[in-house]
Amino acid sequence: MLIDGHGRTVDYLRISVTERCNFRCQYCMPEKPFSWVPKENLLTFEELFLFVKVAIDGGVTKIRLTGGEPLLREDLDSFIAMINNYKEGLDLALTTNAFLLPDAAQRLKDAGLKRLNISLDSLKPDVAAKIAGKDVLKQVFKGIDKALEVGLKVKINMVPLKGINDDEILDIMEYCRERNMKVRFIEYMENAHADQALKGMHGREILDKVKEKYTIKALGREGASPSFNYLIEEMNYEFGLIDPHKHDFCESCNRIRLTAEGNLIPCLYFDEALSIAESVKKGDIEGAADVLARVLKDKPKENRWSEEEIEDREISKRAFYETGG
Ligand code: 5AD
Ligand code: SF4
Repeated sequence: MLIDGHGRTVDYLRISVTERCNFRCQYCMPEKPFSWVPKENLLTFEELFLFVKVAIDGGVTKIRLTGGEPLLREDLDSFIAMINNYKEGLDLALTTNAFLLPDAAQRLKDAGLKRLNISLDSLKPDVAAKIAGKDVLKQVFKGIDKALEVGLKVKINMVPLKGINDDEILDIMEYCRERNMKVRFIEYMENAHADQALKGMHGREILDKVKEKYTIKALGREGASPSFNYLIEEMNYEFGLIDPHKHDFCESCNRIRLTAEGNLIPCLYFDEALSIAESVKKGDIEGAADVLARVLKDKPKENRWSEEEIEDREISKRAFYETGG
């Protein structure tokens, strides 16, 4: 078992396979970054896989591939198959913007992928285009339909933003309910790379919108998930709320993150990271395990998105497109 310096069991690894993206979401990368990680600094799937094996042997049972947009990385399905074939029963998931899913969904499913989280911030073409920086909605809808058709389990992520898509919370919920998908509303997390004019909705405001129409019952957190679940009694439908500003889920945080160039990150909020690149390039399993142990030892107790601190703390510099959210 992997245990961190605060006694938390870590069994969840998120791997950002590329920081590049075909969208320019306002809350993530409104502008193309000044520089990308040079392609030659990206770890190959073989190198990433060496670390994946160390992590699985240590006790990781859940792996999620993220980006940027992970489907931009060629042969992603073969990486998924490598991981899937290494150990039975792994919970293997992917987070995507769905743009490339119409072609990829079947291959991902065949490679052993179980679950998908898809970003869907609006059901209106012009609003979706405003958020993502290009006209994406038709293709995203196609991607969602295809994923469901091939039998992947799909959850939807929505980030409600004031004055942009805050009037669509109930509509997106209805869209998801009709397709038997869970929706999770995510509080906008301020960061130095986002459009600084954005105002996110607070978790409590999101719940108020839902309560305008429905009666909701708090169900609680699902294990170590950052999502707090609620039941809509009228429809017997469950949705989730991810509210990092409250950060009460930090105490059961079970995850670490690996970037495409091999930085192992203990917490989404902070810049601190240690690199496994040198070890995996040499095929040094013990070296990689040692870096993992050091990162676990120093994993921070909690993030700093909390309300009380919002005035006097520095904004998070960590880019979501590097860590995959
Ligand atoms: N705040 C909240 N969620 C974010 N995501 C990306 N950037 C942010 C942010 N600043 C989430 C979105 C997207 C997923 C890839 O990461 O929900 O669906
Ligand atoms: Fe791309 Fe996802 Fe970031 Fe949007 S949130 S720019 S889809 S990585």
